[in-house]
Amino acid sequence: MVKICGIGAGYVGGPTMAVIALKCPSIEVAVVDISESRISAWNSNKLPIYEPGLEEVVNQCRGKNLLFSTDVEKHVHEADIIFVSVNTPTKVKGLGAGKAADLTYWESAARMIAHVSNSDKIVIEKSTVPVRTAEAIGKILTHNTKTKGINYQILSNPEFLSEGTAIQDLLNPDRVLIGGNQDPQGLDAIQKLKAIYTHWVPQDRIITTNLWSAELSKLADNAFLAQRISSINAMSALCEATGAEVSQVSLALSKNTKIGPKFLNASVGFGGSCFQKDILNLVYICESNGLTEVANYWREVIKVNEYQKSRFVHRVVTSMFNTVSGKKIAILGFAFKKDTSDTRKTPAIDVCKGLLGDDACLSIYDPRVTQNQIEKDLSISCSGVKHVNVVGDAYEAIRDAHGVCILTEWDEFKTIDYERVYENMVKPAFVFDGRNMLDVDKLRKIGFIVYSIGKPLDQCG
Ligand code: NAI
Repeated sequence: MVKICGIGAGYVGGPTMAVIALKCPSIEVAVVDISESRISAWNSNKLPIYEPGLEEVVNQCRGKNLLFSTDVEKHVHEADIIFVSVNTPTKVKGLGAGKAADLTYWESAARMIAHVSNSDKIVIEKSTVPVRTAEAIGKILTHNTKTKGINYQILSNPEFLSEGTAIQDLLNPDRVLIGGNQDPQGLDAIQKLKAIYTHWVPQDRIITTNLWSAELSKLADNAFLAQRISSINAMSALCEATGAEVSQVSLALSKNTKIGPKFLNASVGFGGSCFQKDILNLVYICESNGLTEVANYWREVIKVNEYQKSRFVHRVVTSMFNTVSGKKIAILGFAFKKDTSDTRKTPAIDVCKGLLGDDACLSIYDPRVTQNQIEKDLSISCSGVKHVNVVGDAYEAIRDAHGVCILTEWDEFKTIDYERVYENMVKPAFVFDGRNMLDVDKLRKIGFIVYSIGKPLDQCG
């Protein structure tokens, strides 16, 4: 029986390994992590992350061919194939601080693999890493292994899942990318990994490349996606200035088969743990290779995203007569997108901090994010003045508010009874739709003053 070990039980490692276990009953999958709380949550009825469909997959396999453990060394020692899905955040200090990827967790995982291995291993980069990381990992593995003659094959197999649709993305991926050395041993390792995916992924969706192309493709993928969001968001600012409507512009663009319909929704900005970090990493790699113009090009994608968030805060404050001091503002949605509990780099953090900077009183509701998490993200000390209330219901958040900001596109915000909401708000009552998900005309008929990104401004406002 082939044994797989997945190091890192996070948003990528947990769902990815669970789906491999589901689709390959003949393979034993152990998911390990140094975080005891994460592993005990994976072993409980309340999984550490929320993803539609994840619980069902875990319940089907856990205790059969899927296990979660903190005994990292034991399971690495026993495995034939090791997927490494540890975090690779942006470096906060030292060389490349604020841009380069921090590979501390990866390096420590590699040293541990070398330390406990006494048989050949295929080591797979699942984390997003800088191009040529496999070279460094290879050196760490071969120079630290005690048993002589062990062969390590390093493969790059970046993960393209999106949070909120992770299980669907894993069950039905548009492509699986495998990069490896182009010598006989490398090609053999590629075939072994391919054999796992062919349990459920059609052959023609499995792309094999050299190591560096696979590593760079993941950074390029996130950069292209983020660039598309910043492009439509930049257009949204121009729409507001000219009377064009961004949704109409998006529709026109989407019908161009060379452009296509996806990722064309203007919003308050992109978030999530990956886009910003991976573009910064790309910028750093470009700079390190002397490619200043290329680095500057990609850096602008992040700048436009920052601009979009501050533009939103500015719009809220100026619309509400240039001050939100002491005014209650309801924040609907805190996660960086719908159907996830993840708040890493969510635009809600910057918007809330911006409004708090102007002394607003925030009442925040998100169906999946805990009060603890929100308070942590906003760095609110328990003893501090209470300008933030986290509540368990959208109506409670909105009661007696001057304005409502929609910051996550949760479906339930579409079905709120806005007439009832309007009755219970201070007048004039404002709605700032940061996700362009509400019917602006309907809201205006009720009496709201509405700001929707990239749409003509409310004449009453
Ligand atoms: P995460 O922070 O949720 O999970 C990483 C886990 O690795 C943590 O639980 C941590 O305790 C564990 N860990 C760190 N060092 C370890 C070690 N030496 N031994 C055992 N466990 C260790 O991170 P997430 O979101 O799962 O991302 C992981 C990687 O995947 C990152 O490189 C990210 O860029 C990439 N990625 C993330 C996607 C996402 O949507 N979150 C999508 C595609 C790629």
